[in-house]
Amino acid sequence: MSHASGTLAPDAVRGMFDRIAPVYDVMNRLMTVGLDQRWRRLAVSEVVWPGDRVLDACCGTGDLALAAEQRGGRVVGLDFSEQMLERARPKSGTIEWVRGDALALPFGEGEFDAATVGFGVRNLEDLEGGLRELRRVLRPGGKVAVLEITRPRGLLRPLFQIWFEVFVPLAGRVLPGGEAYTYLPASVRRFPGAEDLSALLERAGFESVRFRLLGGGIVALHVARRPSEVEDAS
Ligand SMILES: C[S@@+](CC[C@H](N)C(=O)[O-])C[C@H]1O[C@@H](n2cnc3c(N)ncnc32)[C@H](O)[C@@H]1O
Repeated sequence: MSHASGTLAPDAVRGMFDRIAPVYDVMNRLMTVGLDQRWRRLAVSEVVWPGDRVLDACCGTGDLALAAEQRGGRVVGLDFSEQMLERARPKSGTIEWVRGDALALPFGEGEFDAATVGFGVRNLEDLEGGLRELRRVLRPGGKVAVLEITRPRGLLRPLFQIWFEVFVPLAGRVLPGGEAYTYLPASVRRFPGAEDLSALLERAGFESVRFRLLGGGIVALHVARRPSEVEDAS
């Protein structure tokens, strides 16, 4: 079910993740040859300090939320797919797992010290709106880390194309939820590159935006800060 903008409608995205939930963790390890957990640890090491209240939006099966908790954060994991959350719950009894929409977060202004999103912003119907929501729930000075697949340049580009355009949909076809893994390359193709995502973070009101490329350039880790109150008001 395609949307006017070329993205899937939120209900279709939720349905898709409900279907792939049983194989999601296995596919992650396969697609990234096991590097995904290292990227998650790196993301939380940039923004989470012991005792911080942390929101992991689009938490899925919970691995990034878990990494934030292992760093000492007091974590809330939020996702709109019940089936993904069902896989997250057994991973931690102390993380608060919340079913909700990242585009209308059920939290007050400035409630969190840090926020993380792992491979989730690509699916948002309104990307800038989602980033604004994250900014809203962060305290002034609070930081966000966004991990997302990006398109590599140079030598890795053809390899990446074969991997994402051929291998991943093929692997998805033999596992339940094949449709989702056909959607994945399309969602990566249309997602803004790392520089454009930096610009969007700035437009959404973040400052000190920076990114680094991981996995030979197939993943970007963006880190940004909600301006302090004085800067925020100006
Ligand atoms: C690719 S998974 C990422 C899961 C996890 N963060 C990780 O690092 O593996 C994307 C998740 O975003 C969730 N999602 C997409 N749009 C959402 C929205 N508007 N509100 C809440 N969750 C959303 C999906 O249900 C899915 O679980």
